Amino acid sequence: MTDYYKEDLTYIHDVGYSEYALNSAAGILTILAQNKIHDGFIVDLGCGTGLSAAEFIRAGYQVLGIDISESMITLAKIKVPSADFRVASLFKTEIPPCTVVTAIGECFNYLFDSDNDEHQLLPVFEQIYHALTPGGILIFDIAEPGQVDRNDSQHFNEGNDWLILVEKKENLEQSLLTRRIITIRKVSEHYRRDDEIHTMRLYRSTDIAQKLRQVGFKVQTTRSYDQFRLPKAHAAFIARKVIN
Ligand SMILES: C[S@@+](CC[C@H](N)C(=O)[O-])C[C@H]1O[C@@H](n2cnc3c(N)ncnc32)[C@H](O)[C@@H]1O
Repeated sequence: MTDYYKEDLTYIHDVGYSEYALNSAAGILTILAQNKIHDGFIVDLGCGTGLSAAEFIRAGYQVLGIDISESMITLAKIKVPSADFRVASLFKTEIPPCTVVTAIGECFNYLFDSDNDEHQLLPVFEQIYHALTPGGILIFDIAEPGQVDRNDSQHFNEGNDWLILVEKKENLEQSLLTRRIITIRKVSEHYRRDDEIHTMRLYRSTDIAQKLRQVGFKVQTTRSYDQFRLPKAHAAFIARKVIN
C-alpha cells in the first residue's frame, strides 16, 4: 500500500480532474492516426483510474495500464474491465512488447519511489525503446521548472461530496516541486479528511529530448496533444522508434 493517490484523492482525481486525461487521450488518438497506427497494444504508464485506457479501448486498441497506486488500479479495473491493469512502479516493472507507450499527466516527474531520481529516466526510456515494435511510439508529457507563480501557490476545488486544497512550493535550485494536498470527502454521514504530500522532480524539455535521442528515438517536442494545449510549463514528447 503506497501513501500516494489513496482512496479519497483517487476518487477526487476521477470525478474532478478527468478533463486532462480525456483531452490528452483524444489528442493522442489523432497523433496515432497521423502515424498510421490504427490498432495494436498500448501500455499506459501512470494510468490512474483508466480514463485514457477507456478511450483507447473504445478506439479499438488493447491496453495494459500500470500505476503505482492500488486505489487507482482498483477503480480502473471496475471502470474499464476490458483493459488489463497492474499495480507497479513504471521505474521498476517490465514493459511487455507493444506498439505504443503513453504516460499522461506528469507521471515521470513523481518521486514516489524512494530511489527514483533523474538517473532512472534513461533506463526506463531504454526499456521502452526495446519493448516497442519498429515504428512504435512513446507519447508522454512532463512538468518543467516554473510551476509556481507568486500569486498562484494555493488552489482549491470542490464537488458535491468533496473538497480539495493544494499548496505548491517550488525549489528552483533543486528543481523540485512539493504539493501538499488536503482532501475532505463525505462518506455516508461524515466528512473524512486525508493528507498527502507529493514531491516531483521538474525536468527541462531539452534534457528529456536529449535523453530520448540518446536511446535511439526520433523526437518531436510539443506543447500540445494535437488540439489540446498543455498547461504552462509542461511539454509533451512524441518519440518514434524508427528502424532504417
Ligand atoms: C496526475 S496522475 C495522472 C493519472 C492519469 N494518467 C490521468 O491522466 O488521469 C499521475 C499518476 O501517475 C502515477 N504514478 C506516479 N509515480 C508512478 C510510478 N513510479 N509508477 C507508476 N505510476 C506512477 C500516480 O499514481 C498517478 O496515478
